[in-house]
Amino acid sequence: MTRPIAILGGTGPAGTGLALRWARAGETIIIGSRDSARAQQTAAAIQQKAGPQSQVSGMENSAACAAADILMLTVPFEGQATLLKQLKPSITEGSILIDATVPLAASLGGRASRTLGIWQGSAAQQAAELVPKEVSVVSAFHNVSAELLNGDAPLDCDVIVCSDDPDAAQLTRELAAKIPGVRAIDGGKLENARIVEQITALLIGFNIRHKGHAGIRITGLPPQAYR
Ligand SMILES: NC(=O)c1ccc[n+]([C@@H]2O[C@H](COP(=O)([O-])OP(=O)(O)OC[C@H]3O[C@@H](n4cnc5c(N)ncnc54)[C@H](OP(=O)(O)O)[C@@H]3O)[C@@H](O)[C@H]2O)c1
Repeated sequence: MTRPIAILGGTGPAGTGLALRWARAGETIIIGSRDSARAQQTAAAIQQKAGPQSQVSGMENSAACAAADILMLTVPFEGQATLLKQLKPSITEGSILIDATVPLAASLGGRASRTLGIWQGSAAQQAAELVPKEVSVVSAFHNVSAELLNGDAPLDCDVIVCSDDPDAAQLTRELAAKIPGVRAIDGGKLENARIVEQITALLIGFNIRHKGHAGIRITGLPPQAYR
């Protein structure tokens, strides 16, 4: 069994899409939810899509946290802080929290193509303030379409990974590169998450105007930057 990945809020499209791609790549996935029955139902549906060899289970979020030390957070911004405060006692020492939260203005009733100003700089930096000190926070997967992740075709996009912990960032880039078509790129320190989170609002605007599933590609870097 591989080191399990717990996807907190894993019942939504972003969580199920990542779970599907990683399950197909042989990763062991735990779907987290506020409701254990919903987590189990979602896990069963992903397992059916990913194939009989895939390892996908479902648990309530705090049990999922306790069962894994790679945590992928895919909840709407309005739920991020409350959920992390609630989960803090269940997060094990040395865990990595990968945050995909986009602070969309829609969280507060505004437009989906705008972001909110966050006191800490970004949703990822807010997450870093809320988890235990020995937990490394990584920001990634903001610019990937959940709809495409839930499909079968390779993706056509890059994933920018930002963190103050180089080892956690490296592990996250390796996970991103397991998704067919994705190249993972070192985006520098966690403070750069602010920029990456805002790109998502721009992509949502493209999708609204052009009826598509926009992603981004970074060009012009030497080959080793994409490894
Ligand atoms: N959708 C995309 O294309 C995409 C792409 C990149 C990044 N993102 C970001 O990834 C995150 C998840 O996106 P999504 O579209 O999957 O979101 P979503 O469907 O709105 O929510 C995902 C899951 O989060 C849980 N949740 C909802 N409200 C919550 C709350 N107040 N407190 C705790 N848990 C709550 C729900 O699971 P339970 O009810 O089962 O607990 C829900 O199924 C967002 O921050 C989004 O901005 C999305």
